[in-house]
Amino acid sequence: MDTSETTKILSGKDQEYYGATARHYDAAYAADTRLKDIPFYMDLALSVNGDTLEVACGTGRILLPTAKAGVRIDGLDFSPDLLGILNNKLKSEPREVQSRVELHHGDMRDFSLGKTYDLITVPFRPIQHLFTVNDQLAAFRCFNAHLKSAGKLAFNVFYPNFKLMEEVGVENSDLEWIDPQDASITVRRSFLRKSFDKLNQFFEGELIFRSYRDQQLVNEERSTLNMSFYTYPQIILLLKSAGFRVTEEYGSYDKEPISICKEMIFIAEKE
Ligand SMILES: C[S@@+](CC[C@H](N)C(=O)[O-])C[C@H]1O[C@@H](n2cnc3c(N)ncnc32)[C@H](O)[C@@H]1O
Repeated sequence: MDTSETTKILSGKDQEYYGATARHYDAAYAADTRLKDIPFYMDLALSVNGDTLEVACGTGRILLPTAKAGVRIDGLDFSPDLLGILNNKLKSEPREVQSRVELHHGDMRDFSLGKTYDLITVPFRPIQHLFTVNDQLAAFRCFNAHLKSAGKLAFNVFYPNFKLMEEVGVENSDLEWIDPQDASITVRRSFLRKSFDKLNQFFEGELIFRSYRDQQLVNEERSTLNMSFYTYPQIILLLKSAGFRVTEEYGSYDKEPISICKEMIFIAEKE
């Protein structure tokens, strides 16, 4: 069977973290009270107490507080826009914090930093921007090659909610915040799912950012957001195939059992 068609359809569609998504990223997720991942990844890095790499670090939502807590942590990301935001934030931190961080522009499927780490984290579902088995395996193998012996890998993906994903053409509002650049503007974000490929396990959609002043719409921005999704056995197989052994797994950042089928959070060790 030729799977190149899937690769063709989705190649380049992981490049959506530009423009409006990048500009609104920090304000949007600061407003997201559901997100409780920062203490989890930060405590893990503090307990490993070694060199950490955050793959797909974005604007440093997790990387920056981790560095401020005293961890040596490098970051790698694909999006120059998000890395630029992180770099600017880093410049206003004290020198000792800056000295704990090195940033790299790179692709998680194929990077080579010439260094190995005690811990690699991939927080907030970046591997859901990998759409083929080849890309997924390449990324996990790359993580493995960048870990010291018995080094740890930690990441999370959502448990697939098929009912929700099958709702194509429906726009769901999720977040609202005051624009940090202009307090007279309220930004409302929604997600429009445009297609759902059950067989190849991905959906395509758009994030829509609408800006309101005095309840009047003054601006609308759209950016592509496509995501793959994984089943539990698929992740286990990917990890095994790339030389990892699962040591801990959770269904939430409060460490509920993974069987609650909401988030799937894994800590794995290099075999
Ligand atoms: C949801 S964001 C998570 C960012 C950050 N880890 C956080 O917790 O806020 C997903 C990130 O994956 C990055 N990304 C997507 N595909 C990538 C790839 N192939 N290589 C490296 N980074 C990638 C995006 O640029 C974006 O920063």
